[in-house]
Amino acid sequence: MFKQIISTKHQHFSSLSLTSNLFRCYATQTKSSGRWLDRQRRDTFVKQAKAQGYRSRAAFKLLEIDEKWGKFLEKSKVIIDLGAAPGSWSQVAAEKMKSGGKLITIDILDMEPLKSPPNKNLQIIQLKGKFEDSIPQLRSYLNEGEFADCLLSDMAPNTSGVKSLDHNRIIFLCNTSIDFAFEVLKPGGCMLMKIFSGPEDATLKNDLKQYFENVNFVKPASSRSESSEVYVLAEGFKL
Ligand SMILES: C[S@@+](CC[C@H](N)C(=O)[O-])C[C@H]1O[C@@H](n2cnc3c(N)ncnc32)[C@H](O)[C@@H]1O
Repeated sequence: MFKQIISTKHQHFSSLSLTSNLFRCYATQTKSSGRWLDRQRRDTFVKQAKAQGYRSRAAFKLLEIDEKWGKFLEKSKVIIDLGAAPGSWSQVAAEKMKSGGKLITIDILDMEPLKSPPNKNLQIIQLKGKFEDSIPQLRSYLNEGEFADCLLSDMAPNTSGVKSLDHNRIIFLCNTSIDFAFEVLKPGGCMLMKIFSGPEDATLKNDLKQYFENVNFVKPASSRSESSEVYVLAEGFKL
């Protein structure tokens, strides 16, 4: 009986605190989505993306990295873009690639179809699903002995807001992408991946150095300074 009373009280307390927690959470979310909208309105890269027909401001991150780090997009005949939606990195890749190249995009989400720029004949293949499960389908679009020159990944896991957890999740995604590179990347090829910087950065860098000639961490100007987002460019795949 006593136990019953205690637990009833406790349940009452729990449901009250759950309601107030939910309210607090909703209020915080509403505040932060308001802040996000505000920031979007003021952001010059958002304005520039709209003006230039890019699907998101992320386009400028890839444009800057490519420009500063040896124009690897221009040199690529086959590019695979992991986590491509809504598609601004793919738009940039399509612009920079030579005529006759092959651009393969993969995302869990639907992505509006991309068009080859009018002045070039580019084969664009858009796959839907988890990149981890896409290898057999992807291979069917590559010719015998054909591999990717460049693997792009702007993928991000669902973020929790807990820094250490989000860091670990994205590092896991990077390691899975490295396994993926062993299946599809050609010797000498390059790989660009997003991370949320944290304690595992050094281990990732050391691991990548075993498989690539050069590994560099890059923070483009268009990546928000308050974000822990950094890009890892690994060049010269040593298969
Ligand atoms: C930041 S967005 C990419 C933005 C893109 N680079 C652009 O410029 O438009 C990250 C994308 O990664 C995708 N993603 C996350 N995990 C994935 C996975 N395991 N396989 C495929 N796509 C994934 C998400 O669905 C999301 O669309």
